[in-house]
Amino acid sequence: MIEIKGTTRVCGLIGNPVGHSISPLIHNTLAEMCHVDMAYVTFQVEKNQVKEAATGAYALNILGLNVTVPHKQKVLDSLVDVDPLAKAIGAVNTLVRTEDGFKGYNTDILGLQRELEDEGISLAGQKVIILGAGGASRAIAFLCAKEGAAVVYLLNRTVVKAQQIADDVNLHFNKECVVPLAIDAYDKIPGDGYVTIQTSSVGLYPNCDQAVIEDETFYKKVEVGVDIIYNPVKTKFMELVEHQGKSAYNGLKMLLYQGISAFELWNDMHVSTQEAAVVYEKMKRELGINEA
Ligand code: ATR
Repeated sequence: MIEIKGTTRVCGLIGNPVGHSISPLIHNTLAEMCHVDMAYVTFQVEKNQVKEAATGAYALNILGLNVTVPHKQKVLDSLVDVDPLAKAIGAVNTLVRTEDGFKGYNTDILGLQRELEDEGISLAGQKVIILGAGGASRAIAFLCAKEGAAVVYLLNRTVVKAQQIADDVNLHFNKECVVPLAIDAYDKIPGDGYVTIQTSSVGLYPNCDQAVIEDETFYKKVEVGVDIIYNPVKTKFMELVEHQGKSAYNGLKMLLYQGISAFELWNDMHVSTQEAAVVYEKMKRELGINEA
C-alpha cells in the first residue's frame, strides 16, 4: 500500500465514466515499486466542466492528469502547450505540470509505439493497413506517417471518415501516404506483407465472435496483426491472422505503456522492462486474463 503523507503528490484521471479504469492500479503499483511519493485517483468530470477541472487541478498543485473519454479533445482548450504529435492528432490523454500550466501529450500513441517496439514491429518503410476510422485510428495513422510508413491503407465502413483522416495526415506531413478505402474494398490493396492494425469496435466483448473483415483472402495480405482491443484477450481478428500462420497481438501492452509513458513524463524517470512486466502481470490478474 502507498503511504499517504503531507508530501504525497496527486495524479489522477478525468473522464466520464471513470469507475472502470485500470489506471489507478497501473500508477499506484508503479509509485510503490519505484518509490515515488505519489497517489493516483479518479475524478468524474461532467462535459461542461472540463476547463474548471483542469484549472482547478493545476491550482491544487496536482502533478499530472490522464484524460479519457469524452474529454480528450475538449481539454485542449485548457492547456498552455501541446506536444506537436498530440496537436496534429487533435487529442491528448496526459497532462503534465509545467511552470505556467498543463502541457498535453498523447501517450495512447506512445503506448502503441512501445508495444510495436516490444514485439519487434517497425513502421519505417512498412506497408500498413488500419481497420476503422475513429479516434484511435486517427492517432495511429499519424504515428504511421511520422514513423515513415511506405503506405497506409485506411479502411472504414463509413468511407468519408477514412477520407477525412487521410486528408488530415497527408496534409500534415505533405505526402500522399494514407489511402482511404471502404471496408469491403480490400481487394484493391495490392500484394501482401502488411502490418495490420485493427481499431474498430467490432469484436469487442460481448461480441467476441465477430471481426470487421471475416473473409480469409483478406488475411493473406497480413504479415502481422495488432488489435487494440484487449477484451477478449484473443479477438476474432487475431484468430483469423493466426489461422494464416502469422503473429497477432492484443491491445493490453498498449494500455500498459500508455500508463507507463504518462508516469515517466510526470516523474521524469524511466520505468524498466522488469518493472513494466510486474505491472503487466498485475493488470492481467485484475482483468481476469489468463494468457498462455
Ligand atoms: P475510437 O474512438 O475508440 O477509435 P470510435 O470512434 O467509436 O472508436 O470508432 C469505432 C470504429 O469502429 C469506427 O471506425 C466504426 O465505423 P464507422 O465509422 O463506419 O461507424 C467501426 N465500427 C463500429 N461498428 C462497426 C460495424 N458493425 N461494422 C463496421 N465497422 C464498425
